[in-house]
Amino acid sequence: MIVLKSPREIEKMHEAGKLLASTHKEIAKLIKPGVTTWDIEVFVDEYLKKHGATPEQKGYRGYEYATCASVNDEVCHGFPRKQALKEGDIVTIDMVVRLNGGLADSAWSYAVGEVDPQTQKLLDVTKTALYKGIEQVKIGNRIGDIGHAIQTYVEAEGFSVVRDFIGHGIGAVIHEKPDVPHFGFPGKGPRIKEGMVFTIEPMVNIGHWATKMDANGWTARTMDGSLSAQYEHTIAVTKDGILILTDQEEEKTAGSH
Ligand code: MF3
Ligand code: CO
Repeated sequence: MIVLKSPREIEKMHEAGKLLASTHKEIAKLIKPGVTTWDIEVFVDEYLKKHGATPEQKGYRGYEYATCASVNDEVCHGFPRKQALKEGDIVTIDMVVRLNGGLADSAWSYAVGEVDPQTQKLLDVTKTALYKGIEQVKIGNRIGDIGHAIQTYVEAEGFSVVRDFIGHGIGAVIHEKPDVPHFGFPGKGPRIKEGMVFTIEPMVNIGHWATKMDANGWTARTMDGSLSAQYEHTIAVTKDGILILTDQEEEKTAGSH
């Protein structure tokens, strides 16, 4: 069942999303060679607390951390750890913020120092793929239109879209209906309606899309060892159009109004 959200509920999720966006913008300033994902984890935990929010991932289904930190060939759900990031690495930081009962979810990939051109292309294509998906979010379209747009674009750029992890509705809990695959066929899946709130979070690999699970039971990495990137926003469908609840641009200009 897809739970539709009221404008009031969407407003609360938007407040959580704005805080999440500002957290990512702080993380962007911290990422450099020598920093560890444990440093980022500690920063996020304290930053959210300072702003009256809590990290929803901590304790979720036994996950122990505020953030997921996935380095290089790690696709998602990497554990934060005390190992220095190196020049040329990429790292995806994913988190869910709870603020005044509202949830928002956003992942962002970061380059550590200078990365090679192919790696930069992976980051650029994955971020553009997210926005190609977002363009399809309109009342009357179907969920399948989102994945189709993402897959078509990514494959034309010579990369692949991960199949094993998908976007999801979000509301009272992190994972709700609908499922939002980043691949598939146009005109398929549920119709997009006012009040829906869901994530779009394509994971894109330089090589094959297949993933394998680490012994820790959480961390997925590419089967072929190729690099993987991910960008994720939480999107709300309102009667006046869509809202990117975790938009980092909107937050940037918020002070100027
Ligand atoms: N933020 C993740 C997502 O985008 C959810 C992580 S689940 C956790 O779906 F258990 F790792 F927290
Ligand atoms: Co996420």
